[in-house]
Amino acid sequence: MRIDIITVLPELLDSPFQHSIMKRAADKGLLEVNLVQLRDYGLGQHKQVDDYQFGGGAGMVMMVEPIFNCINALKAQRIYDEVIYLTPDGERFNQKIANQLSLKGNIILLCGHYKGVDERIREHLITREISIGDYVLSGGELAAAILVDAIGRLIPGVLGDETSALFDSFQDDLLAPPVYTRPANFQGWEIPEILLSGHTAKIEEWRHDEALKKTKSRRPDLLPEN
Ligand code: ADE
Repeated sequence: MRIDIITVLPELLDSPFQHSIMKRAADKGLLEVNLVQLRDYGLGQHKQVDDYQFGGGAGMVMMVEPIFNCINALKAQRIYDEVIYLTPDGERFNQKIANQLSLKGNIILLCGHYKGVDERIREHLITREISIGDYVLSGGELAAAILVDAIGRLIPGVLGDETSALFDSFQDDLLAPPVYTRPANFQGWEIPEILLSGHTAKIEEWRHDEALKKTKSRRPDLLPEN
């Protein structure tokens, strides 16, 4: 999978994909993240990418032409399945969307800044708009990093244990059950006995019960109505 991230601040995204699981995904050739400096497509001597908004009002707006030229330059090289704009008024990102996107071949992520992008970009060039939550960030870069991480770890072959993503919180609309590792007794803090029983079926049943209990108390909205 290839993800092109269009941004005026590529430096912000230098580090997030160079460690741990994202690095492994890149090293295995399963995920290529390419940072595209929008300013390279800026207009005039100053490589302008934003301008005052028509009708007046505070805040700059990202212009159509640089983004249009940038997206077209990318599209001339390969076919993209989605051109996604990160914006607080997009659909709320969740595990289901991460699953869907992890099956795509090539996607573009467009990071907004200032007051956002000229609406005509959204109308004509963007295929999907995604928010990572009901709060406003100063730019889309950190949101893009979150998408890439959540999507990248789902690409088959990226996680060492092939099945482990299946048991994440949210994957079955349940929060994940508690986990423990050695020692079994730390200063009198003991782990649930069932986990030492070696009884796989019973352990799975316990995990499911715990996941359900946790979901009921913390996120009842994830459970079916009745
Ligand atoms: N850009 C600014 N705020 C954002 C948010 N909450 N989600 C996605 N992109 C954003």
